[in-house]
Amino acid sequence: MPAPPSPSVSPAPAPPAEAVVPLARGLDVLRHLTDADGTLALAELTRVTGLARSTVDRICATLAHLGYLRLDGRDATLAPPLMGVANAFLGALRVPALLGPLADRLAGELDESVSLAVPDGDDIRFVHQVLRRRALSISFRVGDLLPGAGSAPGLVFRRGADHTDHTGHTAHAAHAAHAVDDQLVEPGLVAVALPVRGPSGAVVCAVSVVSHTSRHRAERLPAAVLGPLSAAVRAMETALAHDTPPTADGPGPGPAPAPGGAVRSLARGLGVLTAFGAHLPAPTLAQLAEATGLPRATARRALLTYEHLGYVRHDGHAYRLTPRVLGLGCAPLSRTTLPRIAAPHLAALSGALGESVGLSVPDGEPGGEYVRVTARVAPRRVLSVDLGVGTRLPAAATAAGQVLAARAGAAGAAEAVADGPEDGLWSVAVPLRGRDGEVVSALDVTAHRGRGERTAWADALRATAALIEADLRVTSRFVTVPHH
Ligand code: PHB
Repeated sequence: MPAPPSPSVSPAPAPPAEAVVPLARGLDVLRHLTDADGTLALAELTRVTGLARSTVDRICATLAHLGYLRLDGRDATLAPPLMGVANAFLGALRVPALLGPLADRLAGELDESVSLAVPDGDDIRFVHQVLRRRALSISFRVGDLLPGAGSAPGLVFRRGADHTDHTGHTAHAAHAAHAVDDQLVEPGLVAVALPVRGPSGAVVCAVSVVSHTSRHRAERLPAAVLGPLSAAVRAMETALAHDTPPTADGPGPGPAPAPGGAVRSLARGLGVLTAFGAHLPAPTLAQLAEATGLPRATARRALLTYEHLGYVRHDGHAYRLTPRVLGLGCAPLSRTTLPRIAAPHLAALSGALGESVGLSVPDGEPGGEYVRVTARVAPRRVLSVDLGVGTRLPAAATAAGQVLAARAGAAGAAEAVADGPEDGLWSVAVPLRGRDGEVVSALDVTAHRGRGERTAWADALRATAALIEADLRVTSRFVTVPHH
């Protein structure tokens, strides 16, 4: 896919005297990792940030301690818990929670992709994506940035006095005309967008229907989709008018307290960001200090730093996150699948047990007769049989199959043991659950018979399943994560 544009950078005014330098540096590291699609060598990170190597090491150690990145040898890689930062913005915005289901319905009705986007400076950011029929080389994900001048949502926001932002304080235009993207973003890609207005009349987001020239020429796309699209916009505006934000969905788990040696002001500052959410969309300083347990002066300095860098703006006493927050990891972390989320955890478990561990999903109909392996990590010496990714196995002969077969049942099997899938092998499996508690996959250890012990292995599997489930929960809060 084409390199996304960087947010327009104007010559930075000098930071306020009270800005928290380690926090600003930590944000810079996260932004560079995001622009590099999630991974950079520490040496490269040192080069692009212009910081001393020892500073980069300390910042990365702190971010790793918070779970926000993983250090593998010489590389730093963004990790799923960082999605909590994007979720703070997306939760406070309300748009994904309120309008996402209506966008999903529109996509089903038209059998086309649908997205929701908000302005971010001169550019636009996707805050919801439903992918359908996309015979395209690219597909944008939540958090991706597109140029305002060259995309249908950008053209909607640019309609002169129509321009506004998600905080909704700018003047609004008289009528809502659609905008068309005739292959501005990508050859073959055509899109039509309409603005969605909040109760004050300000544009809150743009909803786009995205198709391909093989299905619709750009001139014909509006006629083909504007009926259902306009109806969806009316339903969205009604939903916004009747919104009653939750008062206490509770923040996500905040960052763990920083140990000695970690950069405490960076850890505390990030805690200020993740205190925002649906329950606290526009907190005051006093509310943020209370939510984070930080002294007011500390929270205030973090807010000054964020404001200076464009991640927060304030309006009277209320602070709000800006879409730029999505530049802190969201797009690379939302371009993922359950096997990819699980991979580092499978590697750790395989290393600890010295055995082959894997994930599988039902193959075919629910309750089907096969399971398909979606991920496997094995020490070299282990299996002579090939149970690699893509292998189909009879469900009845595998522990994974038994766990998955029980998934329709109320409780599901907590654990299963089976002989096979090959003579001389046995396996133990536990279920892996998604956000809503539904079983989405099975996690197994498979070994030569005579090795291992059922209870110990089941405990180890359950502990690993809990780690994978936590990563899946934070990643899939506002993003669809494919299970295979
Ligand atoms: C998209 O959702 O992928 C999309 C939307 C509008 C555009 C281009 C792409 O103009």
